[in-house]
Amino acid sequence: MRDERWEKLTAAADTVRGRLEEPPTVAITLGSGLSEAFGVPDGGTRIPCSDIPGFPAPTVAGHAGEFWSGRIGRVPVLLQRGRTHYYEGRSMDDVAFAARLFALLGVKTFIVTNASGAIRSDLSAGDLVLITDHINMLGANPLRGPNLDELGPRFPDMSAAYTPRLRAVARAAATAEKIELKEGIYVATLGPSYETPAEIRAFRAMGADLVGMSTVPEVIAASHAGMEVLGISIATNLAAGVDPNAALTHDEVIETTRRKGAELRRLIVAVLARLEI
Ligand code: HPA
Repeated sequence: MRDERWEKLTAAADTVRGRLEEPPTVAITLGSGLSEAFGVPDGGTRIPCSDIPGFPAPTVAGHAGEFWSGRIGRVPVLLQRGRTHYYEGRSMDDVAFAARLFALLGVKTFIVTNASGAIRSDLSAGDLVLITDHINMLGANPLRGPNLDELGPRFPDMSAAYTPRLRAVARAAATAEKIELKEGIYVATLGPSYETPAEIRAFRAMGADLVGMSTVPEVIAASHAGMEVLGISIATNLAAGVDPNAALTHDEVIETTRRKGAELRRLIVAVLARLEI
């Protein structure tokens, strides 16, 4: 018996493939506020999510919900502007849909970006942070349920989900571009409420440096499907309670991503130029 999820994915992939001039080797997911700052690939083609059968369109303000295919430098890319979050009420399959779609399209490298709150005391609002690992506090996993054997194994290893090779490429690109790139471990929370100061203290004790409401499901699904992953976060604010006098707002998150988006783009362009694919 065919798995309904697989049928949906292959139908979506067929549609997207029909709209592409060439198969993408790299997919890039842009987080909150980053879509505008990042722009689109030169000579790119827009594919709205609503044109893709079965695609779960995102609902959050600041997320456009579209793909752009094209080239950045010499690399054929597929850009995802606006992602689906678990807090929107969608299923984990929906949240992981785009990552799996990338796998079906033959993407080998998945670059995932996000906005996060800074937990570690040496991190500041506006820092670019290379994600080295994650902690899943969503209470859910996109691989739950019958395994999609076409994509990957039942019990995939997550020891090197954030590919060491790509992290080294990102560090070299940052140095060459004179961009300060810190490193940290990302904890994913369900949201949509921001964390309490007590939760942030607990996450710090667990070893988390950054907190956010995305990325982890996509990375699990991408890693399961055999893609290499590079994760870069913009620490948009200090996490709850880190500055006892500050309150958290979505506006601050969006404002910081807009401010740092161009720098993140420059970093990603430099990474793409260094990829041997
Ligand atoms: N917490 C959770 N998600 C976030 C934050 C935060 O402080 N900042 C940006 N996304």
